[in-house]
Amino acid sequence: MVGSWRPTISEVHGLAPHGQAVRSIFAFRSLKESMRVLFVGDIVGSPGRQIVRDRLADIVAQWQIDLVIANGENSASGFGITPRLAEELLKMGIDVLTGGNHSWDRKEILEYLPHEPRLLRPANFPEGNPGSGLYLGTAKNGVKYAVLNLQGRVFMTAIDDPFRKGDSELAKIPPDVAFVFVDMHAETTSEKLAMGWYLDGRVTAVVGTHTHVATADEHVFPQGTAYITDVGMTGPHGGVIGMDRGGIITKFLSGLPARFEVASGDVQMNCVLIETDDEGARNSAGRLRARSIERLRFCID
Ligand code: FE2
Repeated sequence: MVGSWRPTISEVHGLAPHGQAVRSIFAFRSLKESMRVLFVGDIVGSPGRQIVRDRLADIVAQWQIDLVIANGENSASGFGITPRLAEELLKMGIDVLTGGNHSWDRKEILEYLPHEPRLLRPANFPEGNPGSGLYLGTAKNGVKYAVLNLQGRVFMTAIDDPFRKGDSELAKIPPDVAFVFVDMHAETTSEKLAMGWYLDGRVTAVVGTHTHVATADEHVFPQGTAYITDVGMTGPHGGVIGMDRGGIITKFLSGLPARFEVASGDVQMNCVLIETDDEGARNSAGRLRARSIERLRFCID
């Protein structure tokens, strides 16, 4: 075993009062195959992009992160992602970007998706849509990984079954891929939790996105799959799920269409840190088992 000091986030980044990421300053990296993965919750608009730009590099260095995955479907003013913004986010140190129902909002992304495999959209949209919901890569520590993006159907567009599509996509992942991560982009807690149980023991982690409100149910399932129902959002929390509260309240009061703008104030970066088993233990599908999943929240000082 190789020991190393790892400072707390509060020491390094001066966490604001919302911060809860105070943890042991001791951390040990195993010489065996292991992964420390950061997932950044839905990045909303320019405030969300800005906090990632300001903080991510330091977090990756201080926490010895091997792989960074982020949901980027709201990065363009809350609705979709453009090629320019995808490239900007990838240059900030994000290795893979996942998507969701807003993946298709910007028409210029349709032509771009087939050319940038690190930008995913949910796999269970109809056959023939541009892009892919599965990415295979190699992390900076040499460990092979896969990221799968699925989308729920409850209170959302009626697309293909994410469970059966998940099965067929997982079957495409070669056996030498050690770390398998799933972003389940869905509205209801029940559909996300069902997916977590469905994939327990077959993937390393299932994290929920889309609702922009972090849940407090992070845990590792019995067969070694890390899970959280929703990671929460990276962006301004002074509004309603990232958008200016005035327009949202007006819509609820009137029932009429309203123009939504990105909110301001209380910018947070909500993430989860997933660590795999120190000894490189595998699940029944031959993938790395998760040891822990932890919520991290970074704020503007
Ligand atoms: Fe969404």
